[in-house]
Amino acid sequence: MKQIVIAIDGPAASGKSTTAKLTAEKLNYIHVDTGAMYRALTLKIIKDNIDPEDEKSVYNAIRDCKIEFERKNRVTKVLLNGKDVTETIRNKEVTSAVSAISSYKRVRDLMVAQQRRMCTDGGVVLEGRDIGTVVVPNADLKIFMIASIEERAKRRQKELAEKGTTADFADLIKDINERDAKDSNRTESPLKKADDGIILDTSNLTINQQVDFIVNKALEIIKKIDS
Ligand code: DC
Repeated sequence: MKQIVIAIDGPAASGKSTTAKLTAEKLNYIHVDTGAMYRALTLKIIKDNIDPEDEKSVYNAIRDCKIEFERKNRVTKVLLNGKDVTETIRNKEVTSAVSAISSYKRVRDLMVAQQRRMCTDGGVVLEGRDIGTVVVPNADLKIFMIASIEERAKRRQKELAEKGTTADFADLIKDINERDAKDSNRTESPLKKADDGIILDTSNLTINQQVDFIVNKALEIIKKIDS
């Protein structure tokens, strides 16, 4: 069976991560969370006390960083220079600074080169903001996930509650809107649907419905390629 490349893009909290992870599990593919890569670099900048707005210092600090995904017992860990940072990269400080770090061209070039290397043999589900437009414009299947802002804030609030954190609903809406605006309006690889991307509105879908939609599309494509 041909191993294809699936690109999943979309705004913050649109459900990309869970959907990409489960899609990859169903197809027995590798899941690459590219947002986690930018988050890991951001953590390094915070730990080194570097001003996120100082592009030159940011680049010098991250240029030799090694980011790896380690999969064990169905759990994927994010390693930064060999250290497990899976949980820390989701904290508020990283979330606030990541848009600045991911807006720099030289930073993106480094990450995109790594992401492309992960695609060479196919069998990959990549999720992010620029996967279908920049990282793998020739991906076999491109999905652009969207959901209403209220639904996205609700999901983020539930996710935080599961980790024992409370968050004000209006603040969450503000944070998500701000991050979307930064990601969509930046010069370098802004968040944008690829011309041949398929819109998947998840506002009223369950996770299983989202995953089934993508897996079925993928199987149709694989069948066509194999025949
Ligand atoms: O998907 P996420 O929220 O974990 O992504 C974190 C940030 O990284 C997000 O604000 C935008 C940026 N990002 C990006 O610029 N390009 C990607 N391919 C993935 C994420």
